[in-house]
Amino acid sequence: MPDDIIPVITIDGPSGSGKGTISSLVAQKLGWHLLDSGALYRLVALAAQRHSIATDNEEGLIPLAAHLDVEFKVNSSKDGLVVILEGENVTDDIRAEECSQMASQVAVIPSIRLALLDRQRAFLQPPGLVADGRDMGSVVFPEAQLKVFLTASQQIRADRRYKQLIKKGIDVNFAAILDYISERDTRDSRRSVSPLQAADNAVVIDTSDLGIDDVVIRVLELYSST
Ligand code: DC
Repeated sequence: MPDDIIPVITIDGPSGSGKGTISSLVAQKLGWHLLDSGALYRLVALAAQRHSIATDNEEGLIPLAAHLDVEFKVNSSKDGLVVILEGENVTDDIRAEECSQMASQVAVIPSIRLALLDRQRAFLQPPGLVADGRDMGSVVFPEAQLKVFLTASQQIRADRRYKQLIKKGIDVNFAAILDYISERDTRDSRRSVSPLQAADNAVVIDTSDLGIDDVVIRVLELYSST
């Protein structure tokens, strides 16, 4: 690889496929930066809610997305990133189910996706980037050295989400989670711009029966063989 190229690994897939955890671990192992692109869509949704802008009000949402006042801080003692919106820690707020649904609604609007494009590409800094999302390999970083697409059955993904929420002490109903996941899959896969789908040259890994460490090792092996 030429010296002036900053390497990128894209990890796309539906919610609950494990891409957040896997991306964060792969970035840690390589000592690279991490882009959680879903967090950006979630932040647009949360900012919209806080400024009383409806998720279908395109004119109102565009300036929000373009000027999102956000900061990502790495917190090594907690897993993942601390997310600050307009000076306030919203790390937990953006993960709430209501925000997930709203994020998926704003993500269908092409002008919002466009408004977030440069911000996502700005994460590409030396020594490398692991980019996690739905369209990282197909649209945002089409030149990525390695493109991975993670899948898992809806049942398994709902089960993972259920256990995550129970662990956090949130009382939830499994059937409702399965419904939410299915609704979000349908919206994310059917939208006209950047629908959730594996890039042509992506390596598809079904994580249904794999542990997190197995997938991380597989991704690192795939990268070292590029
Ligand atoms: O990965 P996530 O669950 O945090 O993403 C939240 C929503 O944002 C998801 O329903 C679809 C949307 N999204 C997207 O459209 N494109 C991305 N690259 C990342 C997320």
